[in-house]
Amino acid sequence: MRIILFLPLIIMTSVLLQASGDVKDLAEEKCGSCHLMGLLTKEKIDNMKAPPYWAMSKVVKLEYTNRADMINFIVDYTLNPREDKMLFPPVTKKRFGIMPSLKGKVTEDEIRQIAEYFLNK
Ligand code: HEC
Repeated sequence: MRIILFLPLIIMTSVLLQASGDVKDLAEEKCGSCHLMGLLTKEKIDNMKAPPYWAMSKVVKLEYTNRADMINFIVDYTLNPREDKMLFPPVTKKRFGIMPSLKGKVTEDEIRQIAEYFLNK
């Protein structure tokens, strides 16, 4: 009897874990080449092309209180980055330049999933 009660829970958990694994891969594929993810190494830090993803979620969390606004900002910025929308300070632009638009490289739905993932980390 007990096993029957637990079964749905086990299935649900593995589905959720599976899903978050996929989003992690997606995020690494679409954002990880510039936004530092995973294990930090000296080489990665020396070759950084953008602030690490956690710095990016931090500026977004400081700017917005509402989660939907945070996600909308990330979606919009990823598709249409512009200097006047930047939350990072001017020194970020000096060091890395402005992010190139990823329009056509990642869908809005994918960015939403990635944004959720980043904000949860
Ligand atoms: C080709 C390199 C590159 C890729 C790929 C990239 N970014 Fe960026 N991103 C940058 C750089 C450089 C900055 C810092 C300058 C800026 O803010 O525009 C940045 C900044 C950001 C910011 C903060 C903008 C601000 O200043 O408020 C967000 C949000 C962001 N990226 C989201 C993403 C997401 C989500 C992905 C993956 C879907 C991604 N980026 C992929 C280069 C990249």
